[in-house]
Amino acid sequence: MHFNLETIVAWAKRRGFAYPGSDIYGGLANAWDLGPYGAQLHKHIVDAWWRYFIQERDDMVGLDAAILMNPRVWEASGHIASFSDPLVDCKKCKARERADKLIEDNGGDTPEARTFEEQYRYLVEHHVTCPECGASDWTEPKHFNLMFKTQQGVIDGEGKDIYLRPETAQGIFVNFKNILDTTRVRIPFGIGQIGKSFRNEITPGNFMFRVREFEQMEIEYFVENDITVGLQWLQTWKEISEQWRIEQIGIKKEKLRFREHDPKELAFYSKGTWDVEYEFPRGWGELQGIAYRTDYDLKQHQEFSGKDLQYTDPMTGKRYLPHCIEPSWGLTRAILTAMIDAYDEEEYLNQKGEKETRVVARFHPNIAPVKYAILPLVKKDEVQVQLGKELFHKLSKLYSCEYDDNGAIGKRYRRQDEIWTPFCITIDQQSVEEYHATPESVTVTVRERDSMEQKRVLISDLFLSLGYL
Ligand code: GAP
Repeated sequence: MHFNLETIVAWAKRRGFAYPGSDIYGGLANAWDLGPYGAQLHKHIVDAWWRYFIQERDDMVGLDAAILMNPRVWEASGHIASFSDPLVDCKKCKARERADKLIEDNGGDTPEARTFEEQYRYLVEHHVTCPECGASDWTEPKHFNLMFKTQQGVIDGEGKDIYLRPETAQGIFVNFKNILDTTRVRIPFGIGQIGKSFRNEITPGNFMFRVREFEQMEIEYFVENDITVGLQWLQTWKEISEQWRIEQIGIKKEKLRFREHDPKELAFYSKGTWDVEYEFPRGWGELQGIAYRTDYDLKQHQEFSGKDLQYTDPMTGKRYLPHCIEPSWGLTRAILTAMIDAYDEEEYLNQKGEKETRVVARFHPNIAPVKYAILPLVKKDEVQVQLGKELFHKLSKLYSCEYDDNGAIGKRYRRQDEIWTPFCITIDQQSVEEYHATPESVTVTVRERDSMEQKRVLISDLFLSLGYL
């Protein structure tokens, strides 16, 4: 079934996944705060990524670099000179738009590959209209740098200009030598990190799809300086990235596609770049980029910093600047995708046998915001509450759990189904009787979400019988 973005936004707010930023002040355009379930979803995606790509691999190390960096970093990386979008103004209503986006929305392909002059010509020849006022009268495109500039220092106006990082990747390149010097990594190896990035987007929007403050999960995977080897690793990273997305966080395969960059679109130093796209409610959009960047970044930083960034092969003694493959995921877009992909509505029969519709967000168990819900059947029963709370404190040391003793059990199951909690554990009268007989023999009911199968399990066996989540 197809659900529009407004449905997802409304549900995300209602169920505590995402709230408009600074809500009580009327919000701040295109800023979103993650609510309790959104924060859990975020953490589980981060954990799934870190575990799969860093913890479980012996060729990867992690990093957590600072957001504020020496401005020379951005000169070396090319961001000061060319990290910009083509900005056009509507002469009638003064709306500011991205020329490349206008072209794309009006049927033009590979707008990034066109020069500013060609983009302007397209707008004129195709009578592209302003989305705000409908006029077709544009200024010529000009460069708009997307980096947020700020000042470091205590005196207003006299500090040094610095930037909020527009990507996490440069933190990896500038630490390449530190990591070589302080760890035992050998080519091929990768460095991964997760963190905030900032871009002063001209046209943010579509919920969390394009925002000015977002998070990325990026890897630089360093390989031999040989194009055949590099291209093989590019293919490998396409495959591993897809496996993670589908198997570890459960994104539907049929909603994903790879798009290869057209040679005209490709950066001059790249030997191949792919976008992974997802079919969002308003069309296909980029979820992840996978780029073979050769030795461009290390070469630039070596030149600008004056530091030798070469790698020495321990077997042959050969010194060279490694090539690198960069798989770069948007974490904020991954959260959005997980919510869209999981959201579903289904009909069910209520206790009176009438048909009703309920929302079920079918999250993969790895990322479901709550893994175990603990539900004492009768709130007024002191023993049930005591057993429930004890169980919550034990299980929550390992998993995200929710304790809920409020309302009819059917309603509580439905609340958990809506966020697709994999296991509900109910404590009932039988548990109380067992407690009074022999406290070690207390059993509870475990309801498994997908099969709705219920089984009685000894509390002492719970940790053995529950799957790892
Ligand atoms: N270091 C490479 C890099 O930053 P990118 O394609 O510009 O490449 C990587 O960004 C990913 O970051 C994108 O695929 C997207 O998921 C995410 N991203 C980029 N800009 C974003 C924005 N304004 N809002 C949310 N996510 C964004």
